[in-house]
Amino acid sequence: MKMWIYGALAAGAVAASAGAAVAGEVSVARGAQVAITSGCHDCHTAGYAETGKIDPAVALKGTVLGWQGPWGTTYPANLRLVARDKGSEDAFLQYAKTFQARPPMPFANVHAMDESDIRSLYQYIVSLGDTGAAAPDYVPPGQQPKTPYIVIAPPIMPKG
Ligand code: HEC
Repeated sequence: MKMWIYGALAAGAVAASAGAAVAGEVSVARGAQVAITSGCHDCHTAGYAETGKIDPAVALKGTVLGWQGPWGTTYPANLRLVARDKGSEDAFLQYAKTFQARPPMPFANVHAMDESDIRSLYQYIVSLGDTGAAAPDYVPPGQQPKTPYIVIAPPIMPKG
């Protein structure tokens, strides 16, 4: 875990600090930790779910791997662009406490995050550097995506 945090810090071109982040503090180090423990990298960082490693070049830039279900096909957004577009830490906080998104985005988990964690997350995201391209557009149900995608099918019920 410590190694990953230090890796993420290096990625953000922030001087590595000797100590681990502390809950309640607002810092890039805490944001790096929160992004891991809250699961944001799981979907928003290409390769992370498979390897457990954060590639600094793509951290939180979203993915071209879609998630398909009855809602259509959604793509984990590029969070660097989201942070840039919000324009300030306060605006990002306001947004993070209220936004809605399609499955499988666990938006209610973000609403429930401590304010200090959301502020830290914003600082971490901004520290990551170049914003990169947007994730592919949402594809409505019944239309064929142009990218690879994972199917989340409705549950299969037991017989009888
Ligand atoms: C299970 C996969 C998954 C996880 C885990 C996840 N996301 Fe997402 N996220 C998505 C998908 C898919 C979308 C696109 C939803 C849509 O198109 O409506 C999304 C969209 C978003 C958006 C909306 C972006 C916009 O365009 O306005 C934000 C903000 C966001 N995620 C932040 C986070 C944060 C912060 C975390 C960690 C706490 C996180 N996500 C964890 C899959 C995930």
